[in-house]
Formats: sequence, structure tokens, C-alpha cells
Amino acid sequence: MGAIIKTQDEIIKMRVAGKLAAEVLDMIGEHVVKGVTTDELNTICHDYIVDVQGGIPAPLNYGHPPFPKSICTSVNHVICHGIPSDKKLKDGDIVNIDVTVIKDGYHGDSSKMFVVGKPSILAERLIKVTQECLYKGIEIVKPGTTLGDIGHVIQQHAEAHNYSIVREFCGHGIGATFHEEPQVVHYGRPGTGEVLEAGMCFTIEPMINAGKRNSKILPDHWTVVTKDRSLSAQWEHTLLVTENGVEILTHREDETIPKIIEH
Ligand code: MF3
Ligand code: CO
Ligand code: CO
Repeated sequence: MGAIIKTQDEIIKMRVAGKLAAEVLDMIGEHVVKGVTTDELNTICHDYIVDVQGGIPAPLNYGHPPFPKSICTSVNHVICHGIPSDKKLKDGDIVNIDVTVIKDGYHGDSSKMFVVGKPSILAERLIKVTQECLYKGIEIVKPGTTLGDIGHVIQQHAEAHNYSIVREFCGHGIGATFHEEPQVVHYGRPGTGEVLEAGMCFTIEPMINAGKRNSKILPDHWTVVTKDRSLSAQWEHTLLVTENGVEILTHREDETIPKIIEH
């Protein structure tokens, strides 16, 4: 059992879902300011996805126990799956907003880091290096690359900066199902693991900690935090493997990487 190869018809639907997820991240940026609560950000995204895009926010009621909100908001030492709450963002906070939109039965999944006011130099560096990790992984995606190749370039870059890679959570195949095969881990050895083929869709979503790699889940069963309370950053894209490279289905205009890479 490996990754599902998408048909042309499915690829068209994945492009639409991916674009919608990207547009939510574009839309929410101006709202991520000092004093806003993550629950207010959740409501804005939920209403936009449902009322403007005619989509479904995939996180809402997902999993066991059901995730209670429509986006994930992971602030500072929260690694991922942060639950929007009435807590206000404050100056210097860093926050990952993770959006997954279902449209016409297909999923687009993407996340981005936002900063509130002026973050510390350490936070800024962590955010930048984590995005570079995502981009380094994306840049080698093409038929013949292995999942181990992707994990390896990400791990190398993070560890060269003395950061650590979270191992308990990973990227994933995506399509009509939110999380499908394969698991895309963000560490590994070149030449190992599943070999990529044109038509595969999956996410890369490295979670990088400024301190140790260890994580723990809070009693709410969802929120994942760094054990040592060090800062953590994450960026995510949904990708399509093409005949000669990769198409970033959740690409935004504010990025330095092109939407389509051909080798
Ligand atoms: N969007 C997350 C991912 O990248 C998954 C969130 S599951 C939720 O895979 F239930 F927390 F929303
Ligand atoms: Co994902
Ligand atoms: Co996501």
C-alpha cells in the first residue's frame, strides 16, 4: 500500500481546494494583530470558508475527540493543533495558522507563520529557517525522489542551525481523504522510503523547535507543545508531483518559491 495516484479530474479538484486554502491564509493576515483572540481568527476563517468559498473547514469535528474549531492556531511553544480560544495575541507572539478547506470532496491543506508586532531575533530566525526547510523539501520533489530524500534535506538544514525536528507528527498524502498514505516525515536518509510518481499529492509540513525535539499533548487531547517550552515553527504546503517536478497547489503570491518547478 502506497500513495494514491490522482486522475486528471481529481487533480483539477485538488487545484481548486488548494487555491482556496491559500486564499484563506492571504485573507487572515491583516487580522493577526495584538489584542485579537485566536477564536476571533477562527470565526473569520470559518465564515470566509463557508460563506464566501462555499467550502467546508476540514478540522471542525475531525478526529477523536472531535477537534472543536475550524482552523488550528499554534502560538509560541505550541507545535501544532492549537485550539482557537479567547486568549488574546500579544506583542512578540508567533502564531501558525493551519487551514484545510474541503471543496467538491477534495482537500487543500496549508499553514503559515504570522508574527504579532516585533518578534525576537530568535523567533524571526526560527520562522525563516523553518520556511527554508519546507522550500528545500519542495525543491527536490519530482518522480524518482524518495520520501527519505525529502526528510534528509529538511533535517540537514534544521540541524545545521541547531534546531530540532519534531518526529511525532508528519506530512501526509491528501485528496478525497484529509490524511492518507504515505506519511511524510521530516527527517531521514537519502534513497530510503517510498519513491515519488507523477500524480501523487501530499503535504510537507515541517515542525521545527528552537530547543529539544520532544513534544507532549495537553489534557485537551489536541494541543501539542514543546516539552521544554521552547519556541516552535511550522509551514505547510499541499503538493502535486508532476512529470518533471512539482506544482505547489497551495501557493501564495507572497512567496519566494515559484508555484511550478520543472527539472
Ligand atoms: N491541518 C493539520 C495537518 O496539517 C491537521 C489538523 S487536524 C485537526 O495535517 F483536527 F487538528 F484540525
Ligand atoms: Co497537513
Ligand atoms: Co495543515
